[in-house]
Amino acid sequence: MNWRGSGQSVLEMPFTGHEFRQIFEEAFSLLDELLNLPPDYKILFLQGGAYGQFAFIPMNLLRSKKKADYVITGHWSNRAASEARKYATINVVTDNSDKGHTTLPPLESWTLDPSAAYCHITTNETSDGVQFHELPDTGVVPLVADTTSDFLTKPINISRFGALYASAQKNIGPAGLTIVIVRKDLLDNASPITPNVFDFGFLAANNSKVNTPPTWAIYIAGLVFKWILSQGGLGEMAKRNRAKANHVYEAIDGSEFYHCPVETNCRSTVNVVFSLPTKALEQEFLVQAQVRGLLNLAGHAAKGGIRASLYNAVSADAVNALIEFMNEFAAANKNRAMPHQF
Ligand SMILES: Cc1ncc(COP(=O)(O)O)c(C=O)c1O
Repeated sequence: MNWRGSGQSVLEMPFTGHEFRQIFEEAFSLLDELLNLPPDYKILFLQGGAYGQFAFIPMNLLRSKKKADYVITGHWSNRAASEARKYATINVVTDNSDKGHTTLPPLESWTLDPSAAYCHITTNETSDGVQFHELPDTGVVPLVADTTSDFLTKPINISRFGALYASAQKNIGPAGLTIVIVRKDLLDNASPITPNVFDFGFLAANNSKVNTPPTWAIYIAGLVFKWILSQGGLGEMAKRNRAKANHVYEAIDGSEFYHCPVETNCRSTVNVVFSLPTKALEQEFLVQAQVRGLLNLAGHAAKGGIRASLYNAVSADAVNALIEFMNEFAAANKNRAMPHQF
């Protein structure tokens, strides 16, 4: 209600005033520090979500080329490619759809196009639980990534990217803010129909303040950046997230009741997806979990099953509570399951 003695809350401040300017600049510099941002990259604070970026990436990065490479690894990369088809010819470099989005096809099998404007990947498929643990080398073609669900969950080598983006609501702060990081030589190439509020070059020139920014979301994001730094930075986040995910995967793999369909080399440390022997058991699992205060465990609407999202804010204690419940549920219901039902 009284930000740093200014007599006003962040919600009341004009974005042009010196108080908000301070909040805004602190958030940028904390993120810069957290990411160890190379000097040839620019951070942009935008709106429109990651879904907005599905269109704004081709609008900004085609650079008079007509083609872009897309790597299809699940629900979100599929959506990114569908949106980009409005603006460019899309070369599907690889597609794991025939394997139900449970694999990461090896780089040797990809059909990269050296004349593509960029190559787009989704570093973590939030719905499918498939994650890149190593970034692909796309040569001279800039790598562009939707990092929405694993941004700030582990260290990231920004210099491997032409551009990357993440909407805030997983690990950054409240929905409404979208972070885009662009290599500076790629900034000023927007197609003429690009709205100013989504033109990377125009945004960079105006310090991300082309119109009123999402002030509250930026304030909270700044506090989250500060918190991550105080905890030891992205290395510490990676350590915690790896431990949480290992714990859940061990509980799944050690039981004959739960099943994770994702191949081990690309299992996500952020979204652990699994199934139970029958849909009816999954429904009961969700109802009983809710009674125990274990919320939001249903898989993505397009996918079904169960999904445990282990974002930075999920504590080790919360994961322990989930595993305790999983073990109890499996013990109480194992006689109702036939192993072959997988
Ligand atoms: C990987 C990924 N990309 C894109 C989106 C869409 O984000 P938004 O709703 O902020 O547009 C999501 C949302 O969950 C996501 O997980």
